[in-house]
Amino acid sequence: MKFELASSTWNEEERKAIFDVVETNIFTMGKNVKAFEEKFAKYFGMKHAVMANSGSSANLIAVAALFYKKDNPLKRGDEVIVPCVSWSTTFHPLHQYGLKLKFVDIDLNTLNYDIAELKKAISKKTRMIVAVSILGNPCQFDEITKLCSENNIILFEDNCESMGARFNGKFTGSFGLVNTFSTFFSHHISTMEGGLVLTDDKEIYNLLKSLRNHGWTRDQDEDSPIFERKGDDFFEAYRFILPGYNVRPGELNGAIGLKQLDKLEGFLKLRRQNAAHFVNLFKDDKRFIIQKEVGESSWFSFTMIINPELGINRKKVLGRLKDAGIEHRIITGGNILRHDVVKYYDHTVTRRTNADIAHDNGFFLGNHPIDIRDRLDYLHQTLKGI
Ligand SMILES: Cc1ncc(COP(=O)(O)O)c(C=O)c1O
Repeated sequence: MKFELASSTWNEEERKAIFDVVETNIFTMGKNVKAFEEKFAKYFGMKHAVMANSGSSANLIAVAALFYKKDNPLKRGDEVIVPCVSWSTTFHPLHQYGLKLKFVDIDLNTLNYDIAELKKAISKKTRMIVAVSILGNPCQFDEITKLCSENNIILFEDNCESMGARFNGKFTGSFGLVNTFSTFFSHHISTMEGGLVLTDDKEIYNLLKSLRNHGWTRDQDEDSPIFERKGDDFFEAYRFILPGYNVRPGELNGAIGLKQLDKLEGFLKLRRQNAAHFVNLFKDDKRFIIQKEVGESSWFSFTMIINPELGINRKKVLGRLKDAGIEHRIITGGNILRHDVVKYYDHTVTRRTNADIAHDNGFFLGNHPIDIRDRLDYLHQTLKGI
């Protein structure tokens, strides 16, 4: 039996959507992207969505927008708190914009911030907290939003791994001033490549639109708060107001997104059904720490951390999985402090013990929006006797 990390979720509907776009001969950001953005924002109960060509680009323009907003913008040298475990492009834009990264340890059960450590890390200099709900599992947003409002700290949600998760009934990716999503192949919905930023802030929305699109004014709202339209249409058509990028999504991505979003609810149902089975199989297994659900996870994958007290050799476990055809990988990007790139970051670390344990003893298996309970039984069988 083959147990893959991810599988395609497209069928005839996505293929038809692709060919419909091809017929129009319009491939760059147009009416499909616009419709997908509106539908996406509505689904998650936010005012505005801006699509980009990846979740990484969504992070990049979301960080940039916070530097160009009029009131209290971020400045180079400001302190931002980040978790030790996330994906590389959670951190890179923060570094690229000159922020000082303060790394906080994770909780070994939830794999999100250790809240006591997060509280300790906040200083007078802290301007922003980046909350990453790891692999579908919501952060403790009651605590985090309270810390942010009490200390006048911006909340940035990198929700690229947790579309459809909820904390106290509210979607993750709707707690922050800016909130990012990825629609890359293996994620909860797939547009090939793609990402989005959600915000309720009209100024940030217009900044994001300019930043993703050369820094120009082309698709600004009529009443955009970030610039005043001049009378000269000849100049206005090519007027640049921000040092932006070209990280536009394609129409194909937008058209596929429209189809995929209709399926999200069903995908989540199946992911949660698989998760219930996985938890049942491994919850009392002392050899492994499995992810403890906070709120309602959207179960991106199934994490397993070998109990560090038992001296079980991970290589041996991974070898067994490999031989059985069960694909597996590091948990997200592991502890980012263990990667070469960190030497470029201006950073401090409060504690990293659990992130190192997750890095050294952890791995994850794929969850899928199809019934994989038989594969989970196969996994359980494969790990018997270790
Ligand atoms: C937490 C997190 N942030 C950002 C990204 C980047 O998303 P993308 O692969 O769409 O660029 C990922 C990718 O998986 C991620 O896991």
